[in-house]
Amino acid sequence: MIDITDARLIGKGSSRLCYEHPRDGGKCIKVVYTKNCSIVSEELKHYRLCEKRQVSWDMMAKSFGTVLTSAGEGAVFSLPRDFDGEISKTMAHYLHSGLAAPEAEVLGRAVKAFREYLFKERIIVRELKADNLVYQRYGRDAGKLVLVDGLGNNEFLPIANYSDIFAKRTLSRKWRKFVCHLQRDFSHSPLLQGLLSRVRS
Ligand SMILES: Nc1ncnc2c1ncn2[C@@H]1O[C@H](COP(=O)(O)OP(=O)(O)O)[C@@H](O)[C@H]1O
Ligand SMILES: [Mg+2]
Repeated sequence: MIDITDARLIGKGSSRLCYEHPRDGGKCIKVVYTKNCSIVSEELKHYRLCEKRQVSWDMMAKSFGTVLTSAGEGAVFSLPRDFDGEISKTMAHYLHSGLAAPEAEVLGRAVKAFREYLFKERIIVRELKADNLVYQRYGRDAGKLVLVDGLGNNEFLPIANYSDIFAKRTLSRKWRKFVCHLQRDFSHSPLLQGLLSRVRS
């Protein structure tokens, strides 16, 4: 059993709390604080599908199964860190707080590279959101986006899991929706138009 009473809280989503793993700084543990647990088992199922297909984990947090914690069952994932050892922050964080021009350019390239990664590896997502992507900074002039939540297929007929053409269609739709939501939620952000100019469609 892992005691997470004093573990550092990294973030809170709509159903889970994400803590730094008290015994491994390269991992985090997520515990559900709402009643709806089905998302977690659905997510693990999709992680297993990705493992079976041997997709690249380059831009997606890796899953390490579940553990028992002091707050109930927890799901363990890799925890991206920046070059200075800090826990990488979300894309939402940077859209709110801004980035100096040269680094904004780097983030823009990272968004484009992330889109290419999703399509190349055929990684089907339930939903793309700026809170579910972290920007891992390798330095002031390099970094990548890592998907930390949202893996899975919430379509009525999950045919995109098995077919290349349907996967591309699903991903295009999810990407368009992502861009729409970014424009709605971060219209105030001076970073946003620069980022989107690279990946509008
Ligand atoms: N691997 C991770 N690395 C860094 N931060 C993370 C990681 N996983 C989650 N977070 C942070 O914790 C928050 C909540 O986790 P998340 O899995 O998105 O919960 P939920 O399923 O409830 O949306 C995220 O929005 C993000 O800010
Ligand atoms: Mg989330």
